[in-house]
Amino acid sequence: MKITLSVLKADVGSIGGHTKPSQQMLAAVETRAQAAVKSGLLLDAFVSHTGDDIAIIASHTRGPGNTLVHQFAWNAFLEATAIAQRHGLYGAGQDLLVDAPSGNIRGAGPAVAELEFDHNPVKTNKLRPAESFLVLAADKCGPGAYNLPLFLGFADPMHCAGLMLPKMIKGFTFRIIDMDNTKGDSVLELNAPDDYYRIAILLRDNERFGIDSISSRTYGEQAAAVSAQRMHNIAGTYTGKDDPVAIVRTQGVFPAPEELASPFAKAHFVGGDARGSHVMPLMPVPLNTAVTGIYCLPIVSCVGFSLDAGGRFSSSSIDFFDNVAWDVVRQRAQEKALAMRDQGWSGAAMLPYHELEYSGFRDVITDLLGRFAIAPENAGRNPNARRDGARPKTKARTRQAGKR
Ligand code: 13P
Ligand code: MG
Ligand code: MG
Repeated sequence: MKITLSVLKADVGSIGGHTKPSQQMLAAVETRAQAAVKSGLLLDAFVSHTGDDIAIIASHTRGPGNTLVHQFAWNAFLEATAIAQRHGLYGAGQDLLVDAPSGNIRGAGPAVAELEFDHNPVKTNKLRPAESFLVLAADKCGPGAYNLPLFLGFADPMHCAGLMLPKMIKGFTFRIIDMDNTKGDSVLELNAPDDYYRIAILLRDNERFGIDSISSRTYGEQAAAVSAQRMHNIAGTYTGKDDPVAIVRTQGVFPAPEELASPFAKAHFVGGDARGSHVMPLMPVPLNTAVTGIYCLPIVSCVGFSLDAGGRFSSSSIDFFDNVAWDVVRQRAQEKALAMRDQGWSGAAMLPYHELEYSGFRDVITDLLGRFAIAPENAGRNPNARRDGARPKTKARTRQAGKR
């Protein structure tokens, strides 16, 4: 049978700031999820939170973008919003950006990652005798937060020795999305290892380019799906950080969980954190962790599952970052965070102008820019100055331009 895995995640309110949803909110979403399983809409479902974001992980046979599945999630988030409102929680309904999406809720605010595959877990199935997958959920960061770790997990044998095995040696196709293009999904497929450097030059820009999906070049099977969307591009203003989710199939023809998790030991710097406008390291944390760190701190959780023949998975799960081995990484992440916070607003500690998520920051800068004027004592002093303010062309600049 064809199985779809869907992860639908939203911040619809949290306690005392952007920390975590309340137990009542989680219980309401859980009750709805169980009802959806009972009614046959879903095969199975698992509800958790990462920071202030509630994630519903579901399996079903209805395909990606299914109206019924998406509407179920939307209504569950609406009910949690109502609870958040009743209890006066912060940011109630924050990620529900439109009034009532008619079908698919992708682009309506919640983060959505989905993938579909043939599921026949028997010993004679050469491709997938067993199906295992993991779900990443990150809070206080932009959608490109997985660019580096997923690139390393799927393209760098220094992190994934499995890439040197016959099943993976042809590499993986990265479907990269230009998140600045608001007209639609603007995507480009590049193959690793052939296009290794081209993939890197795009993925280095976490704020603009994101991994949309990854597929095996040998088997054509989709390995990963990421919710790569910019909320501020949807809402037209800052409403909260994108806080991406991802589904990654593991083992066999795909990298093993340890190969995928190991790049997170870098606790690499990402855009996000307080007011979505800073640069801070991504700390791997257990599932259901609240954000109460020093100055927020971006966090990521990683939960693993196995899928039985009937598409069920939630009776047991494994929390990959809930292990003493990750304590040293958390310590390192916090040390990196403190070092960055030491320089407050200066330079690399905050995102550049166009990425400052609080438009208020930009408004203040724009106001100040309007007040700049050429100092009267300098007027006319620069013989190269042009009246229109453009920089004059020097010989050196003309030569450089010709080289490009
Ligand atoms: P969230 O996107 O997680 O709500 O965080 C927003 C924020 O600005 C935190 O300071
Ligand atoms: Mg929030
Ligand atoms: Mg959040």
